[in-house]
Parts: sequence; C-alpha cells; structure tokens
Amino acid sequence: MKRTFAATFILCAQYAFAQNPLFIPELLEGPSFDLQIQTGTTQFFPGINTPTFGINGNVLSPTLVFNKGETVTLNVTNNLTSSTTMHWHGLHVAAMNDGGPHQIIEEEATWSPQFEVMNNAGTFWYHPHGEGKTDLHVSKGLAGMIIVRDDVEAALELPRTYGVDDFPIIVQTKSFDVLNQVQIATQADTTVMVNAIVNPYLDVPAQVVRFRLLDGSSERSYLIGFSNNMNFFQIATDGGLLEEPFETNRLRLSPGERAEILVDLAALQGETIYMMSYSSEFPDGIIGAETVGMLAEPEGYSDNPLNGLDFELLQLNVAEPTANPVTTVPTSLATITPISIDDIDVERTITFAPLEMGPDNMVEGPFGMNGVQFNMEVINETVQLDDIELWTLTNQTQVAHPFHIHDIQFLVVDFNGDNPPADQSGWKDVVLVMPMQSVSFITKFEDFADPVTPYMYHCHLLHHEDEGMMGSFLVVDPNSVVEVDEDSGILCYPNPANSETTIQLEQSIGKNSAVRVFDVIGKSVEVQYEIQENRIILHTEKLSPGLYNVMLDDKTITQFIKK
Ligand code: C2O
Ligand code: CU
Repeated sequence: MKRTFAATFILCAQYAFAQNPLFIPELLEGPSFDLQIQTGTTQFFPGINTPTFGINGNVLSPTLVFNKGETVTLNVTNNLTSSTTMHWHGLHVAAMNDGGPHQIIEEEATWSPQFEVMNNAGTFWYHPHGEGKTDLHVSKGLAGMIIVRDDVEAALELPRTYGVDDFPIIVQTKSFDVLNQVQIATQADTTVMVNAIVNPYLDVPAQVVRFRLLDGSSERSYLIGFSNNMNFFQIATDGGLLEEPFETNRLRLSPGERAEILVDLAALQGETIYMMSYSSEFPDGIIGAETVGMLAEPEGYSDNPLNGLDFELLQLNVAEPTANPVTTVPTSLATITPISIDDIDVERTITFAPLEMGPDNMVEGPFGMNGVQFNMEVINETVQLDDIELWTLTNQTQVAHPFHIHDIQFLVVDFNGDNPPADQSGWKDVVLVMPMQSVSFITKFEDFADPVTPYMYHCHLLHHEDEGMMGSFLVVDPNSVVEVDEDSGILCYPNPANSETTIQLEQSIGKNSAVRVFDVIGKSVEVQYEIQENRIILHTEKLSPGLYNVMLDDKTITQFIKK
C-alpha cells in the first residue's frame, strides 16, 4: 500500500518538471591540468540555487584525458574554507601522489602531484578523500571522470568521440533539506541525477554508442537497464577492458564502480527510451533494494520511495546517426593475464563487522575492518613490494559494502564460493560484498614502495568510510635503505636504527640547539638525545617502526627508519 503511494509520488514529481539537457563536463587534455576547487551554486530544481562545490565550475569536475605512458601534472588549488584532498580513484600511483587522507591540501594551497600514467585504458574518477569529509565534499559536487587512453583500446573500432558517441554518465542521488541544502548521511536521497542534472535527456545518434557509467553516489547502488529491455554490451570494468564484451540486459553498479557499455541504437531512430535502474530486482541488503536488514533497517530507509523502485535515470532521444558511425560491437577486446594462485606470497582477511553489537548496529554501524576504526596515525597492514597477495573480504553485517582498495587493480577469484560473474571478471578496484558473504581477490603490489606514506582500503559507502570503515596499508621495499644526502656531509648510522642512532654533522653543534623528531604525518615525537661536539645521539628504543624526520633548530637535516 505504502509502496504504491510512494511510487505514484515519484512519477508525479518526475512529470512535474521538464526534462533538462544532460550536462557534459568539459574535457581537459594534459599533460598539465589546472584544477580549481571552488564554491558555487547549482539549480538542481528550477529557480532554486543550492550551494555546491565544483572544480573550475559550480558543480562536478572536468573530465580529464590521460594517455598511458605520459607524465601528467595536476595543479589542485583548494579555494574552499576547509582543507580537503584529491584522490585519483583507480590509478596506480605512488602513495604520496594518491590524494588519500594524508595528502592534505590546506585552504588556499595548491598540491601538484606529478606521475606517469601506468593504467590501461579505462574509466577512472577523482574525488576528495579528506578524513571524515569525503561524503560532504563529494555530495556537494566534487567528482569528475578520468579517461585513460592506450594503444590497445585505440586499435579497436569503438566509439570514442567525447560527447558525440562516447558519453560520461555520473549517476548520483542526493538528499536535500528544507532549505534545499545538500545534506549527508541520511536515507533521504530521493533526488536522482546524472551529471548533476535532474530529469536529464540526451540526444544520441542511431548507432553504437558508448556510455562510461560511474556510480558516484554516497551509498546507492543501481541496476542499469533500458526501458525497452534491450540487451547491451559491457566492455570494461573498473580497471579497463574485458577480454570480450559481456551481453546482458542488466548491470549492477555500486558506489565507486565504473563500467563501460556499448548500446546499439541503430534500429531506434526517432524513438525515445530511458536508461533505468531496475532496483526492484535487487536482493535484500543492497542500499537501493526494498529491504536492508532483518532485525532493523537504516533509519528512515523505508520512507525513501526510491528503495525497491524501478526508476528513470536518463531519457535518450535517438536522432540521426553521425557521418562515420560505429555500427558493430567488437568480438574481442583485450588480454587479461591472470595471476596464478600458485604464486601467492601472502593471504590476508579483512572482516567487516559492527564496532558495537546490537540489531541497529548490524545495519547502521559504525562498522570497522578487522575490528578497528580508521586512525590516521596507525598502519593496519604492511605489504612487501612485488608480493602477490590473496585478500578475502568477509562481510559480517546485514548491509552490502562496496570494498575499494587504492594502488592496485585486482582480479576476483572467489565470489561467495563461486567463480566471479561475467560483469566482475575483469580488473576491478571496487567489489560489492553481500551481507554474510565473502569475496576473494588476487593482486600484485608493484612499482611503488614508501616506508611512511600509506594507501587506503575502505568501504565506498561514503558515510561508512567517514565513520572509520577504512584501513591503511604500506607497501615497503625490504631491500631499500634510506639514502642520506651525500652532499650535505651529514651521516646517520645505523640506519635503519634499533635502540640508538647517531647523526654526525661536519661542524660542531651548539649546546643549546633544539633537536626535534617528527613522524610521517608531521607529528612531533618525544626522543631523548645528547649532543656531543658534531654528533647527535638519538635514543630511539621507544619509537614505533617507521620513518622519522630529524630537525636541528628549524632545519630538517636527515631521515631515519626505526626497525
Ligand atoms: Cu574512491 Cu578511497 O576512494
Ligand atoms: Cu560500508
């Protein structure tokens, strides 16, 4: 009864507004990108200005094009009145360039990571990742797409003219308060939008077109299909092309996930169809399904008419084909070289569970990973460079959680005791783990080691992440030692240090000089020391393992590792 009423309400609401042209974010080519994070206003509803955040604009962010092998520089300036970060979701970059919670961009500051693009062609995205602020900053509008191109993809006959036959589709729902301000961490995300446009339409040519789908929502999953129930072809997962197109009429997307699909519209010229979410078909437990939780539901969940409803995402008006249309779907795409189970060096288990026990906690959290909440100063896992690892994710809650890991792309090898379904059979960086089930993936931690700067793994339901359903890991190179700047004439020995290390300068040190030691996140740590002529003896026995910076008066003079 209630559901019928809710569905009617939504339909009326949709017909009450005119359809609006889909916004296609500006395309930026590198190798250097200037990204101004700024405040603005957006009319999600006609005549109503809602304060939003955007990059180089009022809301959302430009689409960045990277070419595999090129070195890109991203100048990210924070014009907000609070600190933030900018994370390149899915890209294989060094931890210091990753834009996780530790690469803080203060107000008015510019952060300029520079890195070589190492990923295969695919659809990635970028969004803020500040500690406890991800949901707010993303919900206010900060999200953009990254398109990586490479030779393998370029050799295929695929639609790739941006905004003509190749479209970015950022699907989100948002929640608004009575003053039409974006609000977060509620179950009242009743407004559906694509590329920040409510009730959008898009004119598409009658030929094979490509949609780059991104679920940029705080917590809602979608079951993508078309109103005429036609089949379409998934060609890519999060990390790039599949081996061959997967033909289907439904594709599930959970927060953080991307998929590229090809849709053949040749026979539909002059017709209007809708890209839909068939959320009524979702099993219990996925945010977006009719029901989540057996003993309790997230507060306000059943009041949201979208939950369990089939609803429109995007109206597609099929128009004339372009001059040189793509008319076929390739039969094969890329080679995915599997990683053998026999080569596994380390196995790890990450268990999702509530941090407190009670029926509400099973659906509301706060949730932890392996029993702990995220802490900026704690390293939860340490991985050795070049190791092949098998991670098993076990969900002991009543909500499905999309697990995301930075740095690498993985291959799912076990999906609740089965082989991965076709839509999960390529390179992934997000995987939805259903309630009371497990997923295992295999990956290799290559190229980047850093003894101090961690990467993150976390739930991509943004308020779960913000509430601490996140952990950190270091990738360390066991064969590296910290190099001391030879020109400075400063020696540090032994390094790595155990209970004591000596720093030797070329000139003698004033007796009243201050020696200070800082950990990786710049927090000062207490260390006993003595100054003897040109030497500082540091008593390091009480330090936890990690990298430390040493300052003499106001100058950083050396670094050392505590074993
Ligand atoms: Cu899309 Cu750690 O994030
Ligand atoms: Cu979660």
